[in-house]
Amino acid sequence: MKLTQADFQERRDRLAEEMGPHGIAIIATSAVAMRNRDADYKFRADSSFFYLTGFAEPEAVAVIETFESIDEGYTYSLFCRERNRDLEIWNGYRAGVDGAVDEYEADEAYAIDLLDQEIIEKLLNKQKLFYRIGQQAEFDARVSQWIAEADAQQRRGNGSPAHVIQLDRLLDEMRLHKSAKEIELMQIAANISSEAHIRAMQTVKPDMMEYALEAELNYIFGQNGCVPAYNSIVGGGANGCILHYVENDQVLKDGDLVLIDAACEYQLYAADITRTFPINGKFSPEQKALYEVVLKAQLAAIDAVQVGNSYKEPHHVAVRILMQGLLDLGLMQGDLDQIIKSERFNQFYMHGTGHWLGMDVHDVGSYKAEGDWRNYEAGMVVTIEPGLYIAPDDETVDVKWRGIGIRIEDDVVATAEGPLVLTKNVVKSVTDIEALMATAS
Ligand code: GLY
Ligand code: MN
Ligand code: MN
Repeated sequence: MKLTQADFQERRDRLAEEMGPHGIAIIATSAVAMRNRDADYKFRADSSFFYLTGFAEPEAVAVIETFESIDEGYTYSLFCRERNRDLEIWNGYRAGVDGAVDEYEADEAYAIDLLDQEIIEKLLNKQKLFYRIGQQAEFDARVSQWIAEADAQQRRGNGSPAHVIQLDRLLDEMRLHKSAKEIELMQIAANISSEAHIRAMQTVKPDMMEYALEAELNYIFGQNGCVPAYNSIVGGGANGCILHYVENDQVLKDGDLVLIDAACEYQLYAADITRTFPINGKFSPEQKALYEVVLKAQLAAIDAVQVGNSYKEPHHVAVRILMQGLLDLGLMQGDLDQIIKSERFNQFYMHGTGHWLGMDVHDVGSYKAEGDWRNYEAGMVVTIEPGLYIAPDDETVDVKWRGIGIRIEDDVVATAEGPLVLTKNVVKSVTDIEALMATAS
């Protein structure tokens, strides 16, 4: 399964339509990031740039221009690296300007070195500039320079666009609503990531290092040509209480849980999965009691991902169940409504219940519309990830509960038929986890 040029073109068509007449949109891909001297991070295209172009090479800028009337269509220009035999021997194939036209269906293509020169002509006398302000400081400075250069021509009757519009508002909204094909890609990312979690459950052993377990996940990602969609969290015991723990350098101890938050991206579409399971294959009574509370909250929250429901509904549902569970187990005292109103739940549950998911793990898209949390629409994808984190030094609870961190996270599509869970392949009930781990060699 691959997106085709027809998919990227359809997206550009929609963007041009939204821009209306006399507009110009300028979209740059990511800058290459240096890791340390002479060693770059592997390049990963900017999600919104790739969304519109399908072009994965570095140093590229797309320009979309509309004219007098939207019926005249639009021009799509791609500025990219030129072919270069010597550099291609060192760094690999480049599409070049011919490839930009032939393979990527640009109407016009230019060497990236000509951008400063060519863009001024394109900017002149457009009414609206659509630009992703605030993404890359250096590129922002270049755009400001181009505007100044265009305005320097005012006495010749020229000038820069009167309106500068935040392009991300349009692109984010497009990306928030996933097509059937995008959901298919996300399903593949979810399937590979699920396989990785299952492998982790099957291979974990007491005294293993956290990074060795991370390597088991990476093995499955790599075998499928994928990379992690974000830094993997593999936290044994109390490390599971550190929300963004990524050191993964401690010993996994017999009797502890391990919390794994890890997933891959497939063709630039991410999954995001968390599972928490016992390192020795069997939950202790306290671990099981808290786990059952989180699972109950998670299942109910997933069920609240219904078209027409508020984005926040799963969070409200989850918080109520988590806190009732803690009251029942004696970790909290008082009145449930009061605990929720005063936000005392922050002691044990200090993050939201999810976020949009797509090409970016924390995907784009506004969460509110006209001041209120927006409602789920078919094709929106959200994570549902409640948890409970009992700090190792929390003296308000009995010592037996301390240092237990649990999160369960799945990826859910809102559909007209109800929530569709992309990550359902990874077991999550106590019985299923223990059964799977018991069969591991
Ligand atoms: N893995 C990042 C998150 O769950 O938000
Ligand atoms: Mn998440
Ligand atoms: Mn996650």
